Amino acid sequence: MLDEIQKLKEEATASLTGLRTQEDTENFRLQFLSRKGSVAQLFEKLRDVPKEDKPAIGKSLNELRTFLESEFESAQKKIAGEKRADTGSIDLSIPGRKRYIGRRHPLTKTAEEIKRIFTCIGFGIADGPEIEDDYHNFEALNFPPDHPARDMQDTFFVKADAGKYVLRTHTSGVQIRVMENNKPPVRVIMPGRVYRNEAISARSYCLFHQVEGLYVDKNVSLAELKGTVAYFAKEFFNAEAKLRFRPSFFPFTEPSAEVDVNCFLCGGKGCRICKYSGWLEIMGCGMVDPNVFKYVRYDPNEVSGYAFGMGIERLALLRYGIDDIRLFFENDLRFLNQF
Ligand code: DAH
Repeated sequence: MLDEIQKLKEEATASLTGLRTQEDTENFRLQFLSRKGSVAQLFEKLRDVPKEDKPAIGKSLNELRTFLESEFESAQKKIAGEKRADTGSIDLSIPGRKRYIGRRHPLTKTAEEIKRIFTCIGFGIADGPEIEDDYHNFEALNFPPDHPARDMQDTFFVKADAGKYVLRTHTSGVQIRVMENNKPPVRVIMPGRVYRNEAISARSYCLFHQVEGLYVDKNVSLAELKGTVAYFAKEFFNAEAKLRFRPSFFPFTEPSAEVDVNCFLCGGKGCRICKYSGWLEIMGCGMVDPNVFKYVRYDPNEVSGYAFGMGIERLALLRYGIDDIRLFFENDLRFLNQF
C-alpha cells in the first residue's frame, strides 16, 4: 500500500509539471483528486488494510492528498495568471470610463443669468406663492371683475375654495406682496413659475416661468424703464439685439408697452416661433397704475414706478436657438445634455 502511495505521488507530480491549459488542469483534477479519482480510490482501499497498519498508511495517504491539492492549486493559479497576461486583458490604452456629471436645466441657467444681470444694478430678489388668491393675482392689480384674463379659458382655479384661489397666471401678484410689506423705495425682481390653461404648442405650454420687475421711488420715469430694459437686452443677448417697444394695455400699468426682440431663430425671415413676423415678444411693462398704489397704500402723488414681466422660456429659446418650448418640460436627456 505504501508503495502504491509512493507510485501515485510520482505519477501525479510528473503529470503536474506537464499542465499547460485549463483543460489540462481539469483532466488532472478528474484523474487524481475528484471523488472517483486515484487518491479517493486509495482511501477506499484503506478499509481492507489490517488494523495495526491503518494509522501509518492513513497518515501517508492524508499527506499525499494535502500535497497534491496544494500543488494542484498553485499550478492552476499559474496557468490562470499566464492566460491573463497573454490575452492582454489589462489594456492601459483603453480610455477610462467617463463619469456622468449632472448639469443645470437651461431654464435654471437662464433664470440665474437674469438674476445676475439685475442684481448687478441694485435689484433685490423676492418671491411669492404659486397658489395665489384672487386678490393678489387679479383684484389688487386693478383687473376689473369681467377681465378676460379671469376667464376659465386661461386660469386654473383651485377647487378647494372655489373662485378664491388660482394657480397664479403671472408673477405680477408678487409686486403687490412686496409693496404690502415694504415702504418705498423698492427695487426687486421676482422670478417664478406660472400656469395658464392654454393650448399646448411649440410656442406655449400650460406652465412656464416669468421674472417680474418692480422699481418704485420718487420721480421714476418711463425713460428709466426703457434704459433698464435696453441694458438688460444688451447684457442678456448682445449689443446687436434689436428692441421694439409697442404700446399695449395691462390693467396694472399706464402707459403700458410690450417689448419685442428681433427673432434670432430665423434671422428675421419668419418662423413658427415668431409667428412669421421676425419679432418675438419677450416682456410686458409699463408705469405702475395709480390704482395699484392705492391698494398697497402708497401715495401716487409721492411716488411713481415702473414694472415689467418677462417670459423665461422665450428668452431661453432665443438664447440657445431652440424652436420648441415643449422641449424644456420633457426632460429628455439627449436635449438636457447639450447645456
Ligand atoms: N403680467 C403680464 C403677463 O403675464 C406681464 C406684465 C406686463 C408684467 C406689464 C408687468 C407689467 O409687470 O408691467 O402677461
